[in-house]
Amino acid sequence: MSEPLRVNGPRLRADLESLAQIGRASSGGINRTAFSDADARSRQWYRDRCDASGLDLSLDGLGNMFAQRAGIQAEAPAVWTGSHIDTVPDGGPLDGALGTVAALECVRRLAESGLELPRPVHAVVFADEEGNYSHLLGSFGLAHGYDQAALEAMRGRDGDRLVDALNGSPWRCGEPTGTRVDAASIHAFVELHIEQGPHLEIAGTPIGVVTSIVALGGGRMKFHGQADHAGTTPMNLRHDALQAASAFVVELPGIAASISPNAVITCGLLHLEPGAANIVPRLTELTLDYRDPDRERLDKLAEAIHAAAERAAHNHGAQVSWQPDLSIDPVSMDTGVRGVIAQAAADCGLHTMALSSGAGHDSQNMATLAPTGMIFVPSLGGRSHCPAEHTDFKYIEQGANTLLQTLIQLARR
Ligand code: GLV
Ligand code: MN
Ligand code: MN
Repeated sequence: MSEPLRVNGPRLRADLESLAQIGRASSGGINRTAFSDADARSRQWYRDRCDASGLDLSLDGLGNMFAQRAGIQAEAPAVWTGSHIDTVPDGGPLDGALGTVAALECVRRLAESGLELPRPVHAVVFADEEGNYSHLLGSFGLAHGYDQAALEAMRGRDGDRLVDALNGSPWRCGEPTGTRVDAASIHAFVELHIEQGPHLEIAGTPIGVVTSIVALGGGRMKFHGQADHAGTTPMNLRHDALQAASAFVVELPGIAASISPNAVITCGLLHLEPGAANIVPRLTELTLDYRDPDRERLDKLAEAIHAAAERAAHNHGAQVSWQPDLSIDPVSMDTGVRGVIAQAAADCGLHTMALSSGAGHDSQNMATLAPTGMIFVPSLGGRSHCPAEHTDFKYIEQGANTLLQTLIQLARR
């Protein structure tokens, strides 16, 4: 019997290291916000590698990218794999990059090995997974599509409009409203990702088979007060928008704990207007990100958040308004794909552990299109969304080989 196909480890490592140079800041963190210059350079980097391997690369109207390897049955529903190439501000080198580069490596390895598989295998790079404009933007567009009004309303952290970013980008092709794919064209989807939490490392297990992905809500909240002189306005006569917002923010841990041990709420961005040392703030705008593994509890979390915001605003003579993002349902990973992943890992001589994901992933949207599974590898100290993000290369290679075997099995079914 011939040796099972394995990824080219040195090439995978060199590619991850070279991608990690794009958008790298002096902090060591990586800044590749979707549709930024660094994002464009990373896309060119990806295209160069596809060209070098003779892989066709195509784009859709939201900037999702697809590299394809044909199957014996050209029209058979394809097996997809991939992740994202954008990062959070000052992010790490592996969140998204691992699954993107490993998917490319697998497709490239299949092509150069000449291994004939019945189904096509596609490597995909999803646009704006980190949600500068909208959470899981690209995969949501593939699964559900956006209408023009929804796209027009999307703004980035800096207040810029998604539609302007798309209009100025060579990294899209076709209409942003025309990105929905036919579910019948996809046989299965698999994403390799770092765990971004501590469980695999603590258990000493190299491969996680993901069972489910958390439900997620969020949006922008504004506390409206009144601007006044910081020296002359007595404390009891103020309508201080920041005092209202602060009273609300300190309640968030208690609100999460009141709903479930797994509920989390984060305020990650705060903006004050007019924004001067000697003016009582007229406006405080903040972002909220809240999550729970259960959809009903997510709704309860949202209700408790709103009630607390109204209370805090009332107590400080302010008003509150709320602009929610689209919420994302929790999803279970497909049991069939989970079984294929577990078997692939066993074939590579690796132990596995079942675990759920508290991070959001494009797999959430892909699961509405096709049977979907995720493979996790350990994160050092559970750290992610920060420059300290790291995974031992031994685990990266093991994860990539598990992905490759999973793809081969799925493409044969
Ligand atoms: C993506 O990293 C998310 O969970 O927000
Ligand atoms: Mn992330
Ligand atoms: Mn990610």
